[in-house]
Amino acid sequence: MTMTEFIRVAAVDDISDPGKLIFEMDDRLLVLFRVGGEFYCLDDVCTHDGGPLGEGRLDGFEIACPRHGARFDVRTGLPKSMPATESTSAHTVKVEGGEVFVKLGSDEASEPTTSAVPANSGAVSAPTSLPVADAGHSCQTTNAAGECSTPTLGANATVCAAEAGPLSEERVREELKRVIDPELFVNIGDLGLVYVVDLQPVDEDKTNVRIEMTLTSPMCPAGPQLIGQSKQFVGQLPRVANVEIKLVMDPPWSPDRMTDAARDQLGIF
Ligand code: FES
Repeated sequence: MTMTEFIRVAAVDDISDPGKLIFEMDDRLLVLFRVGGEFYCLDDVCTHDGGPLGEGRLDGFEIACPRHGARFDVRTGLPKSMPATESTSAHTVKVEGGEVFVKLGSDEASEPTTSAVPANSGAVSAPTSLPVADAGHSCQTTNAAGECSTPTLGANATVCAAEAGPLSEERVREELKRVIDPELFVNIGDLGLVYVVDLQPVDEDKTNVRIEMTLTSPMCPAGPQLIGQSKQFVGQLPRVANVEIKLVMDPPWSPDRMTDAARDQLGIF
């Protein structure tokens, strides 16, 4: 990173303690933090998907991205929780005569630019196999050997014909929890990505399923995979005729749609 000269960006009293101030320098948005009487400066950019860090919640020395909840250490820019795995740039700050000055770049000999999220941060590790939850089924009608004693519905079906029962919205939503976001490693049900599950009976035996779901970000590269797996798994449920999945971005997804289980998994409190 090219070093520049110190530039005055604020008076000390312009920022409460704790507090933050977003400003622009050399055509880039930065955010100045004041915590415990000290000042720190980071790029106003979350390395997960470009979220505006300065609009997030400041908690001690950590700032939480308002989009998906990744936390960063304001002193270093290091990521502290998923889904971010890379540092955001930290800049040099000095205070003189009641004024705060910032110089782009860090004075550290080797500025950290990338760091794995610490193991104790609450983040989860990448799975070593295909991120699909519970590929088997929980059949209650087992024989003496513990094997399923009733035929399944089709080669890839996950539910026994004997315990299929009526199709319900709840059953579809449970099945959708088998679909795991490959970036966050949390199922799409607990992430709050499934907005609507609508069942439309075709006849006595068959039902069409219409699903409206969203993504954590419009640019999420996992979108086609999540839609494809959702369609595949729901389509394997007994009595399903057709599955239609509509991707919607309104209302946009936000972290408050996650269940407590998802928050725990991502280390978001
Ligand atoms: S953009 Fe910041 S956590 Fe996703």
